[in-house]
Amino acid sequence: MAQWKEVTPNQWEESVFRRISKDWMLVTAEKEDGSVNTMTASWGGLGIMWNKPVAFVVIRPQRYTKEFVDASGRLSLTFFGEEYRKMLGYMGTVSGRDEDKIAVQGLTVAHERQTPYFEEADTVMITRVLFAQPYQEESFLDAEVREKMYPSKDYHTLYICEIEKILVKEQ
Ligand SMILES: Cc1cc2nc3c(=O)[nH]c(=O)nc-3n(C[C@H](O)[C@H](O)[C@H](O)COP(=O)(O)O)c2cc1C
Repeated sequence: MAQWKEVTPNQWEESVFRRISKDWMLVTAEKEDGSVNTMTASWGGLGIMWNKPVAFVVIRPQRYTKEFVDASGRLSLTFFGEEYRKMLGYMGTVSGRDEDKIAVQGLTVAHERQTPYFEEADTVMITRVLFAQPYQEESFLDAEVREKMYPSKDYHTLYICEIEKILVKEQ
């Protein structure tokens, strides 16, 4: 069993840019029937909204994980060491619609506040969705970004999630 230490958002001093964009993260949620799905994400952010510590997560409509997030209103973000790079690549190319990729990759699901996360992570953020809104075509002020990122018009939904708990693995 991994040993976890809870830290507050102010105590968490890692680089958001490195952890999200370079290391990548898993976005994980659970349906009422106990099934869990996860996907890799490398876009998003951490910050403050409505006086709360929040995570900004974007999910395209075709992701199976979106069903899980929408059904439960809760998700975890998990960050991993470099030795899990291959697993993160897998979770970001295979869909949970086609196989139980969590079992295939041998990850261990644990729970905190009824929210699934992975024991193998080094950092866990347990969150509750406060706000969800699909990006609108007409809201893009830069047409180049819109056309480059959404040639199929599969605009992300933006989720703003309250960070309820941050767990860091004890060395
Ligand atoms: C490095 C990386 C970053 C990704 N970031 C995102 C993201 O921020 N949002 C998103 O919707 N998909 C993102 N994806 C794609 C999903 O992870 C991928 O489509 C995944 O297979 C979806 O799985 P699912 O259908 O089981 O949810 C990313 C993929 C990779 C490899």
